[in-house]
Amino acid sequence: MTDSPLLVSDRGAVRLIAVNRPDKLNALNAATLDALHAAFTQAANDPKVRAIVLTGSGPKAFVAGADIAEMAGLTPVQGRDFSLRGQRMMRAIETMPKPVVAMINGFALGGGLELAMCCHLRIASDAAKVGQPEINLGLIPGFGGTQRLLRLAGRAATLELCLLGAPIDATRAHQLGIVNRVVPAADLEAETMKLAEQLAAAAPLALRGILDCVNSGGECAIEEGLAFESSQFALMFATDDMREGATAFLERRKPAFNGR
Ligand code: COA
Repeated sequence: MTDSPLLVSDRGAVRLIAVNRPDKLNALNAATLDALHAAFTQAANDPKVRAIVLTGSGPKAFVAGADIAEMAGLTPVQGRDFSLRGQRMMRAIETMPKPVVAMINGFALGGGLELAMCCHLRIASDAAKVGQPEINLGLIPGFGGTQRLLRLAGRAATLELCLLGAPIDATRAHQLGIVNRVVPAADLEAETMKLAEQLAAAAPLALRGILDCVNSGGECAIEEGLAFESSQFALMFATDDMREGATAFLERRKPAFNGR
């Protein structure tokens, strides 16, 4: 479908989802927010999918932000609805039971950085630029940017990016802990796929346990987080995959995990 705002394809157990509005640098309009929400819900429920890669189409951008043309005429009530629509979609990605890797192939600005930050891992091309430039539009981040950047990179970096609005390059984003890895642009796809394939081969229930512990643990007192971790740890002993992992180690062979 040529007019879909997304391109979706599978490579083995890895689902590739690309925002596909390259002539608008993949800006997020309401239809794209909804399409992303639907695509991730579908991927979460599809047992064949074990890891997801999210990227942007075209050579220039991951996502250059929320769609400024669409936002320009919103009323306050519509603005709040647009913000909530994006936040809900991004929270759905963040709380996915499967790992999501953002492949940052170019500009990740505003809603684009917010989208990358709700993913579980971020791998960036050395040509990428990231930032929260909303201040230059007389706006503030509205898809979780002030909150996720704060948790990811701390107060100093968050205030620098949001108050000044200037994009930073991938190397600085890496130094600040905003992206996990930076690779040469020519290697981005191969390196991302290697990472995603490793995740797709890992024990799905253990991946989910880690995602759940980290998602809930960051937001509660340590005693509560530790108790949740113990309960998730205990749950692993009910899985075939845990037996398989331990047996494979003892038999000096590669484990084959099946998600049971
Ligand atoms: N919303 C809507 N359209 C956008 C957009 C956005 N966030 N970002 C880029 N576009 C559109 C441009 O309007 C242009 O469309 P046109 O060809 O129909 O005029 C097209 O994408 C290409 O962008 P352009 O600005 O010509 O590319 P560039 O290489 O000169 O600059 C950027 C690239 C990323 C620096 C620049 O597009 C930019 O600053 N974008 C806005 C970033 C932003 O403020 N994001 C936060 C939004 S809250």
